[in-house]
Amino acid sequence: MKIGIIGAGNIGGNLTRRLTALGHDVSVANSRGPETLTELAEETGATPVRAEDAARGAEIVVVTVPLKAVPDLPSGLFDGAAEGLAVIDTGNYYPRRRDGRIDGIEDEGVTESRWTERQLGHPVIKAFNGTYAQDILDRHRPAGDPGRQALPVAGDDEAAKRKVRALIDELGFDTVDAGGIDDSWRQQPDTPVYGLRAGAEAVAKALTEASPERKPEFQG
Ligand SMILES: NC(=O)c1ccc[n+]([C@@H]2O[C@H](COP(=O)([O-])OP(=O)(O)OC[C@H]3O[C@@H](n4cnc5c(N)ncnc54)[C@H](OP(=O)(O)O)[C@@H]3O)[C@@H](O)[C@H]2O)c1
Repeated sequence: MKIGIIGAGNIGGNLTRRLTALGHDVSVANSRGPETLTELAEETGATPVRAEDAARGAEIVVVTVPLKAVPDLPSGLFDGAAEGLAVIDTGNYYPRRRDGRIDGIEDEGVTESRWTERQLGHPVIKAFNGTYAQDILDRHRPAGDPGRQALPVAGDDEAAKRKVRALIDELGFDTVDAGGIDDSWRQQPDTPVYGLRAGAEAVAKALTEASPERKPEFQG
């Protein structure tokens, strides 16, 4: 499958490694330009591109940049993508540590991914946001393995969500349907499921135990 990855850091780099290893045709972009991605390209066989070219022909695009950088992404980011494109959002809002205050999230009380999809002008599927980047490389397991971890996946576009869940299964993880994007506060930072290394049953339970309140340390 043709997959675009925008952001080549901890998460984007490791998704590039695993998805190429599984035989996918991966285009990867960062902010500094494709010439700075030659090492990752040589290691993985991925094609380094500019962010505006990452979605060309892609069935799935992963947006995995710091939240504060989302508004800086080029317009027309998904022009030329395949029909039925699914966009994965891995983002988290860290107002104090990294992102600064994002008024659109805090004043409007929307989920982080709802804000992101408004910036991108395209629906998103929230996945991997609570997954340690290293686990993508180290903790994948075959389907049915008793130690297989599960990841929560939220999104409003059911067809896109199915496509993303199938890809995550291929990557070696179970998934739990975490509802729509308005429900995705259940998997944001500081919730019980965030960073949880557990199977589907425990992940589903943790989602039900979340509280929508944004604690002061997660406010800008
Ligand atoms: N680290 C984790 O374990 C983890 C786990 C789950 C979720 N997340 C979330 O996933 C997102 C990415 O995290 P990360 O740790 O992978 O970030 P990271 O290591 O800091 O990497 C960020 C990447 O985004 C690129 N980028 C920044 N601005 C860009 C722009 N305007 N256009 C194109 N690319 C741009 C950077 O490119 P340059 O280097 O060229 O600037 C870099 O490749 C964050 O929201 C984070 O909270 C992280």
